[in-house]
Amino acid sequence: MPTSPPQTSDARGGGDCLSPSPVQRWTGEASLICEFASALDDTVATVRSNIAAFGPHYPDDTTVGGRYLPRPAAPGFAPGANRGWTTGFWPGMQWLAYEVTGAPGFRAAGEEHVADFERRVELGEDIDTHDLGFLYTLACVAPWRLTGSAGAWRAGIAAADALMTRFSEPAGVVQAWGDLTDPAQRGRTIIDSLLNMPLLTWAAEQTGQERYAAAVARHCARLAERIVRPDDSTFHTFTWDPATGAPVGGSTAQGAHDDSCWARGQAWGVLGFALNAQATGDARLLRAAERCADYLLAHLPADGVPYWDLVFTSGDEPRDSSAAAIAVCGLHELAPLVNAERSERYSSAARDILRSLVKGYTPGADGVRSDALLLHSVYSAPGGVGVDEGSLWGDYFYLEALVRHCVTGWRRYW
Ligand code: GLY
Repeated sequence: MPTSPPQTSDARGGGDCLSPSPVQRWTGEASLICEFASALDDTVATVRSNIAAFGPHYPDDTTVGGRYLPRPAAPGFAPGANRGWTTGFWPGMQWLAYEVTGAPGFRAAGEEHVADFERRVELGEDIDTHDLGFLYTLACVAPWRLTGSAGAWRAGIAAADALMTRFSEPAGVVQAWGDLTDPAQRGRTIIDSLLNMPLLTWAAEQTGQERYAAAVARHCARLAERIVRPDDSTFHTFTWDPATGAPVGGSTAQGAHDDSCWARGQAWGVLGFALNAQATGDARLLRAAERCADYLLAHLPADGVPYWDLVFTSGDEPRDSSAAAIAVCGLHELAPLVNAERSERYSSAARDILRSLVKGYTPGADGVRSDALLLHSVYSAPGGVGVDEGSLWGDYFYLEALVRHCVTGWRRYW
């Protein structure tokens, strides 16, 4: 692993990279002007009680009957161990709660997870995945930004290096799933990968090594060319020939059909292209984010919370509230980057969707007991997994959406 952070300035304008960003404490004054104040307070209270329930362990990807259980045991992993793609969302929520409250208990919980994520990447436990970006951005880059932790920095760079091994030539994309020798997965990427790129952007800023930024630029440009379809919907996955780099075609794993539009994928597109457009300065990515946003907004039911696939716009199919929460963050990110008409439309849609989530998709609103922050998300409808349950990513992005709207000057982790 690399040994120490450089003595250079934080590219996001935060000054010396070892100086933590100021914690944005939630104040009574702010709560007077934010309509989401009480929703934010409720989420922070649930994060606090979930820390007491789980200690150093990790909840499972989704709730079962509204309750999180510890992540199940797997070969080589005890119950509650750090494996899979979603464990970073749990410390991510703790860091958001720390920023909102300044309470040391949230920081202590997050720091305990930093140590576990350092161990995970050092030992190479369950790191054969592009999801290293989701995992390490929230578990290590976030605490590095807030506390200047050298251990978090080292683990973040090590994870970025592991992610770089998945960059596949000549296609110029980061392989999403599985072992690098698996012929079924070579040359395949998925739209979710856009959220894994900020770890590489951060590594480029921190090390000064252009190779990380070059991988981000090429990967995102290829996705903008192919994973966004001519009608502005998106494929979930797209494959390039690993030998020639030629485009092969798109398919789905979690959507209704290969040619339908998986709702969460479209939301990953809005947020992911908006983030990467800023990182690369590539106007094609900004346009891709707008196209993803416009298609999503045109395929929402009346309350603004999508069905799990955008092919459905009415009826009894389950909604995916997590897609809505991600979309709120994406629209919020995109609004300052676009022209005045779009900016107003995206900001107002973000606020309306968040209102709907608060009013209709939270335990308080439903009058149910649940330790999820957000109810009614869908992990995989075709797989019958986590349908109409809370999810760690739904909870994280719901909390991020509330923080984006309530905490002035909050700086994203991505
Ligand atoms: N990144 C996996 C998912 O959104 O389900």
